[in-house]
Amino acid sequence: MIEDELAQVEQRLQQIVETAGPEITEVGSYIFNGTGKRMRPTLFLLAAYQPQKSLFPYIDAAVALELIHTASLLHDDVIDLASRRRGKETVHVNWTNKISVLTGDYLLSQAFRMLVGYRDWRLMEAVVGIVQNMTEGEIEQAFAEPALPNLEERYFKWIGKKSASFFAGCCRAGSLISSADVEEQDNWSEFGYNLGISFQLIDDLLDYIGEGEKIGKPVYGDLSNRVMTLPLIRTIDQAKKDGSIHRLLEGTAGSDHNLSEVVQAVLDSDGPQHTYRKAEEYIRKAENTLNKFRHITHDVKEVLIALSKDVLNRKK
Ligand code: IPE
Ligand code: IPE
Ligand code: MG
Ligand code: MG
Repeated sequence: MIEDELAQVEQRLQQIVETAGPEITEVGSYIFNGTGKRMRPTLFLLAAYQPQKSLFPYIDAAVALELIHTASLLHDDVIDLASRRRGKETVHVNWTNKISVLTGDYLLSQAFRMLVGYRDWRLMEAVVGIVQNMTEGEIEQAFAEPALPNLEERYFKWIGKKSASFFAGCCRAGSLISSADVEEQDNWSEFGYNLGISFQLIDDLLDYIGEGEKIGKPVYGDLSNRVMTLPLIRTIDQAKKDGSIHRLLEGTAGSDHNLSEVVQAVLDSDGPQHTYRKAEEYIRKAENTLNKFRHITHDVKEVLIALSKDVLNRKK
């Protein structure tokens, strides 16, 4: 349905980095020529879709969302000390931290330059909300430690802010430019939120059980960087109950030698299965939200159902 528009998004991304000067062209082409899924522009364009109405005026807004997302990854990989992204070495490994952070800043500036062109405060509000939530969620998760109470509940708040809000914001932005019906915008946002929670749950699951080749980034990256995600949190919660928590905590705080022990503890626990079940639950919520939509076409609904299934069953 939006194949042509997504092709335009690719062209525009390429054009932005190619006209920016040789340094940015080099790094920018590298990061955009990988295996990115373009989830955020896809959601935005689907939410904006109306039969017989051209989406071409909104390509720039879709591009801006992908620029913001990619900027966040350039920063995130420095923060997470990640070695691979989109099937290649990360920018900070191939160049430096400085280049990764500054290129991220540049992409962010370009995104906002394109967005202000619309002179639409509702659109700006939705996008600023995405960035604010994402940074708040990241900061809150960065302060996490195993001794905190109610870890699972906190985890859902962190991923709600850092990832689900982005999906929700893309859906809201798309729907608000195509319809004035505020209730429908809320429905879209709720759908995106539930889908985004599921998306991050699967991302966090793949960090433990995925194949590095397919996901295009290293496995056990979260654990080795002390990022507390649900597979581990569930394992910790169970260990708190059966009294084996001290050994596990030594592992999470300790050397790389202990890391494999913690990985094993996670894989032996029901953490991975619990995480998948939660992802299923949020996909069901997303699908139920679709029943509340009032103006959605049959085609868009079918695509969203298929997309939800892909999010749940993705291996990369
Ligand atoms: C990575 O997002 C960050 C998360 C929210 C898990 P994606 O998995 O959408 O990354 P790309 O754009 O496809 O590389
Ligand atoms: C997404 O979380 C972080 C952002 C909001 C940028 P992750 O840290 O899990 O994403 P990956 O695994 O590095 O793609
Ligand atoms: Mg990361
Ligand atoms: Mg991850």
